[in-house]
Amino acid sequence: MIKIAPSLLAADMGNLRQQVALIEEAGADYLHLDIMDGHFVPNISYGPAIVQSLRKESRLFFDVHLMIEKPEQYFAEFVKAGADLLCVHAETCPHLHRTIQNIKELGVKAAVAINPATSLGLLEDILPEVDMVLLMSVNPGFGGQKMIPNVLKKVKRLRQLAILEGWELDIEIDGGIGLENVAQAVEAGANVLVAGSAIFGAADIGNAVKEMREKAQQANELTWRP
Ligand code: DX5
Ligand code: ZN
Repeated sequence: MIKIAPSLLAADMGNLRQQVALIEEAGADYLHLDIMDGHFVPNISYGPAIVQSLRKESRLFFDVHLMIEKPEQYFAEFVKAGADLLCVHAETCPHLHRTIQNIKELGVKAAVAINPATSLGLLEDILPEVDMVLLMSVNPGFGGQKMIPNVLKKVKRLRQLAILEGWELDIEIDGGIGLENVAQAVEAGANVLVAGSAIFGAADIGNAVKEMREKAQQANELTWRP
């Protein structure tokens, strides 16, 4: 099922409550929350306190993307703050199997992300354990970058594998997604679509959510899968 996941990183930080209400009213599914530590990625965003205060305002599914080193140190805090899903980067987790189990034990969904230059092969033995895979389509750290087209091939390969294995895997694509390329991402096999600047940077934020859903839905209906 198609899920639209606006990324808060591009929102007006002085008006978060209002910005989240706009996407929720327009029918967004997820709120994508980018947590950055200035170590794993060269930028710092926000932490659990923001997640907690938005939790009181919103019923959206909170999709927490942890771009931080030693992410396991913060799992309990983010779950307490209201996360519905925690996503770790494979590049930060030498004991990925244990890390994924730790997330599940906290009663939330577990996802794993990889950077554009990281091979899908790294995930081969953890795929049956995760609810979602996030494929980065830009190098993580900043919003507003251009999608790296080669990542679409990786999306396609992962969707083919999921179909072959009979897994109902959610595949999230994150970075540089907008109205001009969302159909390509869906055709390749992504069903969770993150968009920061394309939504929060639009003149009409609510309309941007609706347009993105329409484009994605249409592409999904036109894509044949076995
Ligand atoms: C980048 C983040 C993204 C970012 C996407 O490191 O993971 O979620 O907010 O922003 P856009 O859609 O502007 O590329
Ligand atoms: Zn993200």
